Amino acid sequence: MCLFFNALGHDFMSLIPVVGFLLHGSAGPLTARLGGAVLLPCFVDRPLPLEELEVDWRRTDSDTIVHLFQDGQSRPESQGDAYRGRAHFLSQEIPKGNFSLLLDGVRTADAGVYKCVVYTEQEQRETRVEIQEAERLVVTGVDEPVYAHAGEDVTLSCSVDTHVNVTELQVEWRKTDDDGDILVLLYADGENRPESQDERYSRRAEFFTEEIPKGNFSMKLRKVRTEDKGEFRCEVHSDTDSASTTARIAALGESLEGLVLTCIPAYLILPCVWPFRDVLQLQSRQGTYH
Ligand SMILES: *[C@@H]1O[C@H](CO)[C@@H](O)[C@H](O)[C@H]1NC(C)=O
Ligand SMILES: *[C@@H]1O[C@H](CO)[C@@H](O)[C@H](O)[C@H]1NC(C)=O
Ligand SMILES: *[C@@H]1O[C@H](CO)[C@@H](O)[C@H](O)[C@H]1NC(C)=O
Repeated sequence: MCLFFNALGHDFMSLIPVVGFLLHGSAGPLTARLGGAVLLPCFVDRPLPLEELEVDWRRTDSDTIVHLFQDGQSRPESQGDAYRGRAHFLSQEIPKGNFSLLLDGVRTADAGVYKCVVYTEQEQRETRVEIQEAERLVVTGVDEPVYAHAGEDVTLSCSVDTHVNVTELQVEWRKTDDDGDILVLLYADGENRPESQDERYSRRAEFFTEEIPKGNFSMKLRKVRTEDKGEFRCEVHSDTDSASTTARIAALGESLEGLVLTCIPAYLILPCVWPFRDVLQLQSRQGTYH
């Protein structure tokens, strides 16, 4: 008698909340950063009895199991190799009916459509979530050219925004000229590589070593020369991606003070052409800042 009532009670409890449950996923595609984490949402509108529930997360293209919840527990042993140890249920959230999956160490190959299928004894529901192409390396610099006079030191900006460990990046600063690229500065295998620098830049160009762990690959160029005028490209490569930014050194000349002094007493027109242009460029540069 007692058993009978228990069984009835159990059926009653599972039938009422289970029938017609709604499963929710993501409103739109998700983007993820390379090396970062992304939450793949999948949740029901009410808690479901866990013991008779199965939650199956898969890729739709390959049918690879991303993660599985079965018989009241998560089943990491069933995960496909590509997701082993990288996809996790949120254990405190499961009793609330939240079967969202946290995927970390995002790789380019993670882009694709995933489905979360929730099975109860009576029903099944499915929702799909798309991870768009994993966000690429983002490399930023400064749009404004750097103005300098010969002999001054300048800093050219290059910052990398990524969750990839910087030691896995290769960063090259190149001077890009009509007659080819010159390797100005190189960071590879977690180190600065001065031996590969073009001799014109050896001991003149360097990274701010203490800034590198933050993804700051800005370059310090000492004692700027007239021939440094032009474009420098900061190229960043990871295993799967590349990105770059360009910096420009403009308005090179001799020191402004010196030029003004040499210009005033001179009756010759020609020597004044350069200083004048130099002063004008400096003024127009100030103008853009006001
Ligand atoms: C599910 O759990 C995650 C992680 O705690 C949380 O960010 C998300 O808001 C939860 N979703 C719902 C619907 O509660
Ligand atoms: C990056 O990788 C290096 C070498 O593998 C390691 O020593 C360092 O702790 C890592 N840094 C971070 C922030 O994970
Ligand atoms: C990078 O480091 C240099 C030198 O410390 C600093 O001037 C510059 O502002 C830094 N850039 C960023 C984006 O933090």
